[in-house]
Amino acid sequence: MPGRLEPESVPRRDFLGLAGLWSAGLAILGSIAGMARLPKPRVLPETSSQFRIGRATDFAPGTVRVIGEQNVRVIGTNEGVAAMSLVCTHLGCIVSEEGGGFGCPCHGSKFDVAGNVVGGPAPAPLKWLDVSASADGSLVVDKGRSVAPGTYFKLA
Ligand code: FES
Repeated sequence: MPGRLEPESVPRRDFLGLAGLWSAGLAILGSIAGMARLPKPRVLPETSSQFRIGRATDFAPGTVRVIGEQNVRVIGTNEGVAAMSLVCTHLGCIVSEEGGGFGCPCHGSKFDVAGNVVGGPAPAPLKWLDVSASADGSLVVDKGRSVAPGTYFKLA
């Protein structure tokens, strides 16, 4: 016989019924939580490798512009416009202009003005990047597409 402080025992049938109700309740709550999360995208949008650099008229021959946030150097020449990555091909540090070419502050690689390796551990030249014109006439650099060194986007 249970005392005053002891809880009443729950018959087995009632216990199974309560467990079923609790399970159903948890399943319904889980479903509602799942539906509430549906409007949120589960993947983050990938940043584009393309970016605008301005109009063709901004890159008259002799123009040199470093786009710092993209680590890209854009030049205008009589042959057209070209873009070169400033990311060192050794381990990815950012090179800076030095001595008529580029130098890497991390391990001392040296590149000439065309991005060719002239010293240090870098295994490959700096990448030249694709330049194209968008529909509105802006020039677009694509950091995801390399082109052969010496490739210029011809201005009309
Ligand atoms: S990262 Fe440029 S030389 Fe190592």
